[in-house]
Amino acid sequence: MPDPASISCEDLSYAYPGEAEPALSGVGFEVRAGEYVGVVGPNGGGKSTLLRLLNGLLAAGSGTVRIAGHDPTTEPFEVRQRVGMLFQNPENGLVAPFVEDDVAFGLENLGVPRGEMRARVRGAIEAVGLAGYERREPHTLSGGEKQRVALAGLLALEPEILLLDEPTSMLDAAGRREVLDRLRGLRREKTILHVTHHLEELLDADRILVMNGGELVADVYPAQLISDPDLLARNYLVLPPLLRLASGLGLEAKKPRTPEDLAREIQHRSPRRTEAR
Ligand SMILES: Nc1ncnc2c1ncn2[C@@H]1O[C@H](COP(=O)(O)OP(=O)(O)O)[C@@H](O)[C@H]1O
Ligand SMILES: [Mg+2]
Repeated sequence: MPDPASISCEDLSYAYPGEAEPALSGVGFEVRAGEYVGVVGPNGGGKSTLLRLLNGLLAAGSGTVRIAGHDPTTEPFEVRQRVGMLFQNPENGLVAPFVEDDVAFGLENLGVPRGEMRARVRGAIEAVGLAGYERREPHTLSGGEKQRVALAGLLALEPEILLLDEPTSMLDAAGRREVLDRLRGLRREKTILHVTHHLEELLDADRILVMNGGELVADVYPAQLISDPDLLARNYLVLPPLLRLASGLGLEAKKPRTPEDLAREIQHRSPRRTEAR
């Protein structure tokens, strides 16, 4: 039998208690092990609700959710072991007096033996680039550092799947970069579902899911999304200036580039070179 998909949803619907309108309706998709999949769409589109259903924080109203073949509501242990979730606010979840205790928190709850715990905590702190921060107090850290501590706490638990709910939206540019760099390093090892409002964070994703009004309205390659003005506009998605400029210049838009990269490409094509011939 082939391996079950890492994440699989079929005709998934959910309404919050007391709400007439469903927050999610008829959502179906699959994510294979090792894929990096983006999730975008306007506020209230159902992105966070979807992630909560995937990790078992909420139970499906109808339809099915499977995580490596397991149902989060009837097999919570199997699912919790495989799924780690990172939230928007880096303040949430940092509870312990020192960074190393925070990262160890989940492992302590699992009753992992001391020696193994120490090794896993050290490995996770190194993986997010915070070696030397073990005895720092979390409240003295920058937003990007706090978010990396939270990520280390997840990594220590060795999940196969990372669910990221706008993990960079409350960070400044430097903090965003730090967190994104660490996430990029994890792509080959983990299956990742990344909710974000920044399309440029998803240019090298394997696919992008677009959610609007509780429905999955598109499941496309990044290149398809950024070159489809109607799909973008219908879902209130705005291309960042760098992408608009590249696309206006007729350059391949999908390529991840910095403003400096783009400047070099423009210089390379500039009319002065033509005149000089
Ligand atoms: N705890 C809640 N109780 C009631 N309704 C909620 C709750 N959380 C979200 N909703 C509603 O569910 C819908 C989807 O919200 P959400 O999943 O948070 O969207 P997104 O993450 O895409 O912004 C929205 O209409 C929102 O108002
Ligand atoms: Mg949300």
